[in-house]
Amino acid sequence: MRNPCRFIIRNYSVVARLSTRLFAQCHVPQAGPQRLDVGHMSTYQGYPHRLDVRHMSTHPPSDEEHFFITTPIFYVNASPHLGHLYSAVTADCLHRYKLLQGFKSKFSTGTDEHGLKIQQAAESAGKDPLIFCTDVSERFKRLFVQCNISYTDYIRTSDPVHRRAVERFWTVLQDKGLIYKGSYEGWYSMQDESFLTPSQVADALDSSGKDIKISLDSGHKVEWMKEENYMFRLSAFRRPLLAWLRGNPGAIQPERFYQDVLQWLQEELPDLSVSRQRSRLQWGVPVPGDPQQTVYVWLDALVNYLTVAGYPDAGHAQWWSSAHHVIGKDILKFHAVYWPAFLLGAGLPPPRTICVHSHWTVGGKKMSKSVGNVVDPVEKSGRFGTDGLRYFLLRQGVPDSDCDYDDGKVLKVLNAELADSLGGLLNRCTAPALNPAQRYPPFCPELFAAGSGGGRATADDRRLLEAVRGLPAVVGRHYEALHAYKALEAVGGCVRLTNGFVQRHAPWKLDRGDEGDRRWLDTLLHVALECLRTYGLLLQPAVPETADRLLCRLGVGPGERSWSALSFLPRARGMACPFEGRALGADCGVLFSRLEPLDTDDRKPKRTLKHA
Ligand code: MSP
Repeated sequence: MRNPCRFIIRNYSVVARLSTRLFAQCHVPQAGPQRLDVGHMSTYQGYPHRLDVRHMSTHPPSDEEHFFITTPIFYVNASPHLGHLYSAVTADCLHRYKLLQGFKSKFSTGTDEHGLKIQQAAESAGKDPLIFCTDVSERFKRLFVQCNISYTDYIRTSDPVHRRAVERFWTVLQDKGLIYKGSYEGWYSMQDESFLTPSQVADALDSSGKDIKISLDSGHKVEWMKEENYMFRLSAFRRPLLAWLRGNPGAIQPERFYQDVLQWLQEELPDLSVSRQRSRLQWGVPVPGDPQQTVYVWLDALVNYLTVAGYPDAGHAQWWSSAHHVIGKDILKFHAVYWPAFLLGAGLPPPRTICVHSHWTVGGKKMSKSVGNVVDPVEKSGRFGTDGLRYFLLRQGVPDSDCDYDDGKVLKVLNAELADSLGGLLNRCTAPALNPAQRYPPFCPELFAAGSGGGRATADDRRLLEAVRGLPAVVGRHYEALHAYKALEAVGGCVRLTNGFVQRHAPWKLDRGDEGDRRWLDTLLHVALECLRTYGLLLQPAVPETADRLLCRLGVGPGERSWSALSFLPRARGMACPFEGRALGADCGVLFSRLEPLDTDDRKPKRTLKHA
């Protein structure tokens, strides 16, 4: 028989069939410390000794009902910037999509408040750390409310409930013999709260010309650190991590980041320091049983995902087994190496997927306070509108490579796609001049029939219908893969086709007094409104307010907006259309106001048309 451990790791689908109850039982930590045979572990083919392969065998099914999406929790040593909002909008879009699909979706975000740099930021602001953190945490919250980030859970690492989860998680790792008292000597970056090997640092000069060492990865200054603290046996997890990744090629997306992690795992992993001396770091969770030490801020921070899932209480498995993380590329190592190792160590399954996005730059440069190119999302959403900014980020943000932010580009994209193309289409098809009855007009199937006499539709028209009919599947696939830019591109393509359809048949030239023309006019409008209804439904995850305006204008009620309501043009398939003959909703003005070129005086784009 093949090695059962390997079999189980590779076969998550088999694993997934086992019951949640069993999972819950298996995760009750065993009483008393369990010593770890490290020598045995390092040569073990599957899971390290005592890591209980049983745990892996009890990964509960992602039950087709629950979905749990997370953003990273944000450091509170600086104000929110565009990159932070991008992580949040990306996750929000997927959360909204899942809700429309009928999932019970949990969406967590929050703030990462412990650690040396926060402690120092509070000190230099002359504030008590908790008061300091609360101020900045509230700023993040306000930004998220302003940008319609529909989180269900907002976690702060200073929350007592989180502290309890960290303490329990630590105790479980310790009881399994995975944490030992040792000493760390090496480079440390306070900005990244990260340990670095000599090959990860380089010489540099600081602003005053002094020789310093910096992290090759982030460019942040590093310092030599020598400290007695607790170490986690990360070295024992190289093989288990490789086994997890090889058995789950979709675990880290996009593929290039998956390959990066595999590459890192080709080399031995050093054990990881997971605490700091309390004398240096007071602002954090004390190590259980040793108040002279504070838990390493990344271990503390990563556990936030479990806290939100309900850990350590019974029932957390339900959410934890459906966990998906959205992260920026700079924090991949923490999420794809440390975190799964901690989880495997604690007998918990790694997250389902880690979805990585690249960064926003400005003028081709990383955003930074010292360069002075940090983009303020509060200001931008004020200028371009909440949906304007959301649309731009999702439309232009590509997970694989960095994207450059530029106001002029925002203006161009929004005017072309939201104001002119989509807004123009809605305006044309609902304008009283063309639709005096202000109703969803009737559809005449014969006029769309191919070949036979009486049909007035062209092959291009039928191609439009085909494209829109297939659109929900395409868009859903892209949302699911966190490729919102592709989803929006696909919708935009169909909007263009629909505008072409209207233009081609110039319904404003038809004679209402002529029975044939009137029926054709109604049919054209019916098709165009069905297209618009579909676009409105599909755009809800990305631009909820704009989609709502559009759907309200069409008279689509709140109970008619789920993914299952996406039945495009049922009349063409001989089925009834619930909207046919129904009154349109009230005219609330333009869908998305056109933005005028930036005013060079105050760099504020002018809005030509105001929402009613
Ligand atoms: N606190 C840690 C995360 C802990 S999660 C357990 C952290 N915080 S952060 O505030 O520095 O970054 C939060 C997120 O913002 C990360 O996903 C990061 O990649 C993202 N961004 C920071 N700058 C960015 C850009 N310029 N562009 C896009 N996202 C970027 O790391």
